[in-house]
Amino acid sequence: MKFKFLVLIFFVGLAGFLSLHHGLLPYRMDMAEQDPHSIQSTSGQAGAPLVDVIVPELSAAAQVGKKQFEVSCVACHGANAAGQEGVAPPLVHIIYEPNHHGDQSFYQAVRHGVRAHHWRFGNMPAIEGVSQSQVADIIIYVRELQRANSIF
Ligand code: HEC
Repeated sequence: MKFKFLVLIFFVGLAGFLSLHHGLLPYRMDMAEQDPHSIQSTSGQAGAPLVDVIVPELSAAAQVGKKQFEVSCVACHGANAAGQEGVAPPLVHIIYEPNHHGDQSFYQAVRHGVRAHHWRFGNMPAIEGVSQSQVADIIIYVRELQRANSIF
C-alpha cells in the first residue's frame, strides 16, 4: 500500500516535471520568439520611416556619430534611425532603451550581425569597417535621439 502510494507520487512528480521542463518552458520561449513586434509606417510604403523622430540639437560627439551612422547604418535603419518599412527597425524605439539594449548590444550587432528576433525584417549582417570607437560615436548619437524622444 505504502509502496503503491510512493510510486504514484513519483509519477505525478515526474509528469509535473516533464510538463514544466519540456512543455511549459519551450512553450514560453516559443512565445517570445514567435511573437515579433510588428510596426508600420503611416503610408505603408516600402522604405517609409516607421516612427516620427524628434531631432534634438546634437552634441559635437553625437554629430560625429551621426556622420558615421549615415555611412554605415542609414541604408537600413533610415534617417534619424526612424527605421524603414520592410527594411529595418527604428533604433529610436522603446525596445532599444539602454536597459533593454545596452551599449554592448550595439558593438555586438555591428561586429557579429543580429539574428532576427524582435521583428520580421530578417537578419542584420555584420557591418565591415566600423571601428569600436566609431560604434561608440554612433551609440552617443542614437542615445541622444532616444532621450529626445523620451526613451531612456
Ligand atoms: C542591411 C541592413 C542593416 C544595416 C546596414 C544595419 N542594420 Fe542594424 N539591424 C538590422 C535589422 C533587420 C535589425 C533587426 C533584427 C531583429 O529582428 O531583431 C537590426 C538590429 C539592430 C540592433 C539591435 C540589436 C539587438 O541586440 O537586438 C542594433 C543595436 C543595430 N541594428 C545597430 C546597427 C548599427 C549601429 C548599424 C550601423 C553600423 C546597423 N545596425 C546597420 C538591419 C541592419
